[in-house]
Amino acid sequence: MDGVLSTQRNFKALESDVLLITTPKSDTTWLKTVLFALINRPSYSRSSDHPLLSKSPHELVPFLEIDLYVHNHDPDLSSLTSPRLFSTHLSLGSLPESVVRSKYKLVYLCRNPKDTFVSLWNFINQMRLENNLGANPMEEASEMFCRGVSMFGPLWDNVLGYYKASLKMPNKVMFLKYEDMKERPVEELRRVAGFLGCPFSENQDEPVNEILRLCSFDRLSRLEVNQNGKLYNGVDKKFFFRKGQVGDWINNLSPEMAERLDRITEERFSSFGLKL
Ligand code: A3P
Repeated sequence: MDGVLSTQRNFKALESDVLLITTPKSDTTWLKTVLFALINRPSYSRSSDHPLLSKSPHELVPFLEIDLYVHNHDPDLSSLTSPRLFSTHLSLGSLPESVVRSKYKLVYLCRNPKDTFVSLWNFINQMRLENNLGANPMEEASEMFCRGVSMFGPLWDNVLGYYKASLKMPNKVMFLKYEDMKERPVEELRRVAGFLGCPFSENQDEPVNEILRLCSFDRLSRLEVNQNGKLYNGVDKKFFFRKGQVGDWINNLSPEMAERLDRITEERFSSFGLKL
């Protein structure tokens, strides 16, 4: 809460900033790498010395409320080059005023709620086990998630807020689905690049593929910098890389849990024509 309040009160958006928004475990890590590589494309022509190979995506693209403003009401942002790239899990209604009012570009990524929940459950349990707290039973966690008792609020509210905003303000808010990015990576990355004003040339797929290779799960998850050590907030870097697959819920959820999550998703999204 301290980080959220401090972000709301103190963060001053610049019109050139880009904000990447997700609910936890929607593949934020991947989008951080993709946007960082995209925006900084002119600075790194050779991928062998790319910062993504020596720094964690979470160090290169910090969370406003979890990293920058959590214990600091006035973080030093002076070394960041334009366009500055930040990330957040805040819902639309909780964003700082300066972000809502400016021309700030928002890129929102969501993921199938069943996969998001399974990823969250695994992530929290890894942290609990490390702290000798014992695993959280899945039934209990699923019950809370379905009731909307989640970090940063109910997943469905968070997604809908940004989905509606993307329909109303398509030049300000881009709405992405992880599953689409996995299925049509080249098209989706071209779309994001166009939205951010750094489009790829029409007839060349190689620069797009180069970013996708650099940011692939296989490449990044094996790097020493993502396997060892902790982030500044104390979380093991390796916990952010598990499987990176679409549909892994099938190996984890009971049919009842899956049905319940599907039912909520259908009830909340169908009247808006949104499918996840
Ligand atoms: P799984 O737990 O399903 O494997 P977040 O980044 O929002 O914390 O979400 C973490 C999820 O993103 C994890 O999903 C993790 O494996 C996946 N992930 C991290 N880096 C990725 C990458 N480069 N490509 C694809 N998925 C990635």
